[in-house]
Amino acid sequence: MKKNKISKNWVNKQRRDIYVRQSKVDGYRARSAYKLIEIDEKFKIFKGGLSVIDIGAAPGSWSQYVFKTAKSGKLISIDLKKMEPIGNSVQIQGDFTEEKIQEKIKKYITSKVDVVMSDMAVDTTGIKNIDSIQTGELCKEAMFFAKDLMKENGYFISKIFMGGTFNEIVAEGKKYFKEVKVFKPKSSRKDSKESFIICRKIR
Ligand SMILES: C[S@@+](CC[C@H](N)C(=O)[O-])C[C@H]1O[C@@H](n2cnc3c(N)ncnc32)[C@H](O)[C@@H]1O
Repeated sequence: MKKNKISKNWVNKQRRDIYVRQSKVDGYRARSAYKLIEIDEKFKIFKGGLSVIDIGAAPGSWSQYVFKTAKSGKLISIDLKKMEPIGNSVQIQGDFTEEKIQEKIKKYITSKVDVVMSDMAVDTTGIKNIDSIQTGELCKEAMFFAKDLMKENGYFISKIFMGGTFNEIVAEGKKYFKEVKVFKPKSSRKDSKESFIICRKIR
């Protein structure tokens, strides 16, 4: 398909999408907010006072939701891209996979955190197996980083793509956490292989 036809299709899809329209009404920067909201409705994760690390946070709709619900808590958001500020939360711009960025995050943490979440995704190639492997690597990196920083009862949430690395990621999750669930919110597009892994209780 030609490039301008693809972008026309994308624009039309966005116009029809109820979550895109609702995000404008609710003041969220992206429709992604509703995926986290659905995860929260199902797993009852967010409440006042939580400390949360949001990896792959831009443009910031997950962070906006957390900032609203985890009042008086602590929020650290990380992304390759610069984000508009969200209240007094901490924002770090850089590549999460770099050691220096992970060290920078740790400097802001004074005690173990309640939630580490990652919606990181590479620019998709359209080749499902490659997208699954690359996003899977980001998920594994985030999981490895999170497990030592989280409270025993904390939550790790991450985007994954069904495909090549799915079983491996679930197995990795079970190594570090007692509870591992996979959930696809209704707001995650049906034609996308995207899903979310929700892990709890550090082993
Ligand atoms: C789907 S978007 C996140 C949307 C976000 N959850 C929201 O609600 O606005 C994925 C993000 O992951 C970021 N990302 C991808 N690889 C990354 C990396 N290595 N380090 C930091 N951020 C990364 C991208 O820059 C992009 O902004």
